[in-house]
Amino acid sequence: MEALRHVIDIRQFREPERLEEFLESAAEMERHARQGTLPQIMKGRILAALFYEPSTRTKFSFESAMIRLGGEVIDTESAAQFSSAAKGESLPDTVRIVGRYADVIVIRHPEEGSAELAARYSPVPVINAGDGAGQHPTQTLLDAYTIRKELGRLDNFTIAMVGDLKHGRTVRSLCYLLACSKNVKIIFVSPDSLRMKDDIKQYLTEKGVEFNETGRLEDAARQADILYVTRVQKERFASLKDYNKVKGCYVIGRETLGLMKKDAIVMHPLPRVDEISPDVDSDPRAAYFRQAENGLFVRMALLKMVLGVA
Ligand code: NCD
Repeated sequence: MEALRHVIDIRQFREPERLEEFLESAAEMERHARQGTLPQIMKGRILAALFYEPSTRTKFSFESAMIRLGGEVIDTESAAQFSSAAKGESLPDTVRIVGRYADVIVIRHPEEGSAELAARYSPVPVINAGDGAGQHPTQTLLDAYTIRKELGRLDNFTIAMVGDLKHGRTVRSLCYLLACSKNVKIIFVSPDSLRMKDDIKQYLTEKGVEFNETGRLEDAARQADILYVTRVQKERFASLKDYNKVKGCYVIGRETLGLMKKDAIVMHPLPRVDEISPDVDSDPRAAYFRQAENGLFVRMALLKMVLGVA
């Protein structure tokens, strides 16, 4: 299958063969990483991390992936403040230039559609590391990798998505991808004001995916094979007052675990604030730290794919 040049929208992975091929490549990276035999395929190449929003996992795992494969990294700690954006430079101009200094650009930006805009002007591949409340396709690839590894399958399960479904980009991308899987049922658990947006619900309906919405965590926890918990996205609220109304709306604790199936898992893209109590961490069903580690292997495979190296 022809390799993708840019990774902007998770729907680029909707053909099962593409996803399968990709997840296999990530698994190969994991095997190499565990055996200490990572191929130095990025030697002489440079990754530019252009982050206009905070990040720990996404930025570091991309950078670590590049370095562990023999490549190098240039980055800006906070592009909104420390790149020429602060002087008023447009995003197209910035990527035109950065693309002359680097071989691949990984971008995170507060505006929806920004990664697509960047890709239009960039002379090198662009990877979307989160565009506002839009999408986060590389997170979804690591989520899919994690589900397959933990459950042993990417179909036939019930997933409860919990928290801020209105502003969270990870759940949006995940819905797009799961719409391609067979026999997946989605339970959206959120306060009324943070419900999943209509465009995604319409997409799921068109694809024939069964979903329902509830405010009650308990029933969903009993039914789910995966509890996918998200943070209330403070930075996307118009006012602190609005945020305070919903913050702490769901907290996964030992009682929640007590309701869950024995072989279910708890996922979270992280960072968590207060939505999963730390005493859940030691339960074998808490998969979120393993999930974050998987980001490294998935991003190695992504770099390999967009740079077209053997
Ligand atoms: C997520 C994001 O940036 O959307 N973080 C991540 O990349 N793992 C989730 C979040 O910030 O809540």
